[in-house]
Amino acid sequence: MEFREINRAFFNIGNEPTAIEINAKAKALKAEGHPVISLAVGEPDFPTPEGIKEALYRAVKENRTFYPNPRGVPELRDAIAAYEASRKNMPISSNQILVTVGGKPIIPYTMYLLTNPGDEVVLLEPYYLAYPYWVKVFNLKLKVVRLNEDGTIPFDALRASITDRTRLLIINYPSNPTGAMLTHEDMSRLLLLLDEFPSLYILSDEVYSRIIYEGEHISPLPHSPDRIILLESFSKTFSMTGWRLGYGIYPEWMLEYLVKYNSNLLTGPATFVQYAGITALTDPGVQRDVENMVKEFRRRRDYVGQRLEKMGFKFHKPSGAFYYFIDVGMDGMEFSRKFLEEKFVAVTPGIIFGPSFGNYVRISFASSMDNLEEAMDRLEDFLK
Ligand SMILES: Cc1ncc(COP(=O)(O)O)c(C=O)c1O
Repeated sequence: MEFREINRAFFNIGNEPTAIEINAKAKALKAEGHPVISLAVGEPDFPTPEGIKEALYRAVKENRTFYPNPRGVPELRDAIAAYEASRKNMPISSNQILVTVGGKPIIPYTMYLLTNPGDEVVLLEPYYLAYPYWVKVFNLKLKVVRLNEDGTIPFDALRASITDRTRLLIINYPSNPTGAMLTHEDMSRLLLLLDEFPSLYILSDEVYSRIIYEGEHISPLPHSPDRIILLESFSKTFSMTGWRLGYGIYPEWMLEYLVKYNSNLLTGPATFVQYAGITALTDPGVQRDVENMVKEFRRRRDYVGQRLEKMGFKFHKPSGAFYYFIDVGMDGMEFSRKFLEEKFVAVTPGIIFGPSFGNYVRISFASSMDNLEEAMDRLEDFLK
């Protein structure tokens, strides 16, 4: 194989036509003047809280414009350590924290650190699509275990999928796309798996941890901080997707390696963005803004759930995040394509969350109530 061929193969990994096609079509239809509503979005539609924006302006005026420390700005790492220690009720040192350009880099960083080509990574399906992408890039063996309908973990299947070569299990609660939460029972059983398989680590992606409607968010981190890595982000909690600010919490010894990697690659998010991040975590006004956002999401969740139920869909109501993941009883890609062409509403085909979900679509309720009402009316029409 020629070098250029290898590169082409590499960059095509995970380039599924599905989501790209729907988004491109939605844009094209909008440009033609059609009243397109996109419920295919993975970000809150609220502006970033004013307090955070003010902090950014201040940071720029104070010339926080030089290279950041590749671990993250020390004051931000201290703020993250305090914030997470209090949320998780455990001691966390600033030396465990790596600040990154959004939470996403934690996925490849962790895989790169813990695996060699041929090692195995286990994903729970439906999964966030960045996970299998990096598994393939690093030439790892992908093992997929389908979650139960209610989002709980089928432990016999999971245990059967783990071998001595399994280095990483990725979990994501609250889940994108189902909104399911980790249960105490499942968490206890995950911890038993860590005992049984000494070379296994868990990457716990908790980017939706503050967008919760029912129950409490459970993190396994405090129970096994030497074997669990936390992926967190400012993107969803503070409606800061475009700011690109996230972090990982690692066992301290791993940081030494990751910092070298990070300093040779990204260095980190803009210094002034990191300073604004301190305000996001500590300012009481910002916390009230987050609560109000979640309140509004809950109102929309209840509304959309009610409408979908009336249309006859069966689903598990999301306890967190901002998506409905529903079985549409036909090919989800076909459904998405037709719904967009005929009614100008974009939803995400379920297939991108795993091969078992070809008949599903994901509907995001991170859109205004007006849009949701209109989109539900159009869906009802479409089904007729
Ligand atoms: C489950 C999950 N993890 C991680 C991310 C990455 O978020 P970011 O890189 O913006 O922090 C997302 C964003 O869509 C997500 O849904």
